[in-house]
Amino acid sequence: MSDKAILEYGGERYEFPVIKGTEDELAIDIKTLRASTGMVTIDPGYKNTGSCESAITFLNGEQGILRYRGYSIEDLAEKADFLEVAYLLIFGELPNKEQLEKFHNDIKEESQVDEEMKKILDGFPKSAHPMGVLSSLTSALVAFNPSCVDVASESAMYNSIVRILAKFPVLVAWTMRKKKGLPLDYGDDTLGYVENIHKMMFKRPNQEYKRDRIAIDALDKLLILHADHEQNCSTSTVRIVGSSHAGLFASLSAGISALWGPLHGGANQAVLEMLEAIEADGGDTKKYMAKAKDKNDPFRLMGFGHRVYKNFDPRARIIKKSADEVLGNLGIEDPILDIAKGLEKEALEDKYFVDRKLYPNVDFYSGIIYRALGIPTEMFTVMFALGRLPGWIAQWREMRLRKEPIGRPRQVYIGENHRDFVSLEKR
Ligand code: ACO
Repeated sequence: MSDKAILEYGGERYEFPVIKGTEDELAIDIKTLRASTGMVTIDPGYKNTGSCESAITFLNGEQGILRYRGYSIEDLAEKADFLEVAYLLIFGELPNKEQLEKFHNDIKEESQVDEEMKKILDGFPKSAHPMGVLSSLTSALVAFNPSCVDVASESAMYNSIVRILAKFPVLVAWTMRKKKGLPLDYGDDTLGYVENIHKMMFKRPNQEYKRDRIAIDALDKLLILHADHEQNCSTSTVRIVGSSHAGLFASLSAGISALWGPLHGGANQAVLEMLEAIEADGGDTKKYMAKAKDKNDPFRLMGFGHRVYKNFDPRARIIKKSADEVLGNLGIEDPILDIAKGLEKEALEDKYFVDRKLYPNVDFYSGIIYRALGIPTEMFTVMFALGRLPGWIAQWREMRLRKEPIGRPRQVYIGENHRDFVSLEKR
């Protein structure tokens, strides 16, 4: 097979190299397209556009494969913990004991957040959506850590990375505690990374913190499952903002905003609200299935469908099992879980969903677990952001180390041609 793609246009013939990834994915390299042909490509939503070469995450939507740095998501979710996965994603290899310990110690060294940041948090009304608060606080961190912006060397990058891995969970916990009216807490460096997050979120001022293994393990698994997903909307945002050398924290703040939307990370909140609405409406799943299929009704079955997975989302399988285990172990009976299972069963047998290859995605069951852990619905997307943090960092670091150019797509202009200016009196 030729390793060139031929484009014929206007009687001319152009050749473009075809590149192959390590999993045999093919791409036409059009770096010289505009210079040689004067044309650009148009691809709204970038459904056919590879924005970069990346060695971090491989996913195959047709076969339902997801791997971080070559390791399957199933293995990582079962055998690794979140901090190991974070290290793997960011630096490319699973850490040995010493590397993991050093990494964790470096993070602990940075786990204070400037007290002044509390004043910024105080400025938000209690009703503020936690994603807006988290994005703002992450951006505000730049002011308190200005040395993290200009990261020319790998060691400067490392410092920014451990700082944000240390401080971000504090911001997440503070955001939730503010929502719940609890005093702001700092962590406990004697605890594991995720255990500490759990403590920071849930410790009550008048009670001793109780280590809840089931909850901590469930949280750990959810964070791993969300840790990276190649060039999705928020990750592409982080890379493109980072490509202007705006700095890691500002890039992450933009990524958080991108994740907020209900078509992306906001879906986990939307799923639970949808399930609650169905329950409040008598639990008639058939009615909502019909609404989802009605083209005149804007309602979509939240938590179903995925841009890339067209057979199943491997994360959804792991999460569904985990939801059963967590609720079982915690002794919770949640009618919402039954509604979710009912909807899934109906959708998987329904022609509309089958024809369009619409399957439950990672967010269909994650909200049910978060709810069982006592996390408020509005915090679900924040939990997604916490999980995605290492992926965003890894992608930003890769982009900087590969010295990628500033992201700046082209367009096809379809507006007015040149017009003479008409003065205000004559309009
Ligand atoms: N319910 C009902 N119909 C749907 C759904 C759904 N959840 N998702 C897609 N469809 C239909 C569309 O109406 C369209 O039908 P048509 O071909 O008759 O016009 C067809 O399936 C294809 O849908 P697109 O929106 O073109 O697919 P796309 O790949 O662009 O979008 C997306 C994927 C955004 C995830 C979409 O499936 C959706 O909106 N799902 C619900 C929101 C959701 O769960 N988002 C979370 C995604 S996972 C994540 O971000 C972690």
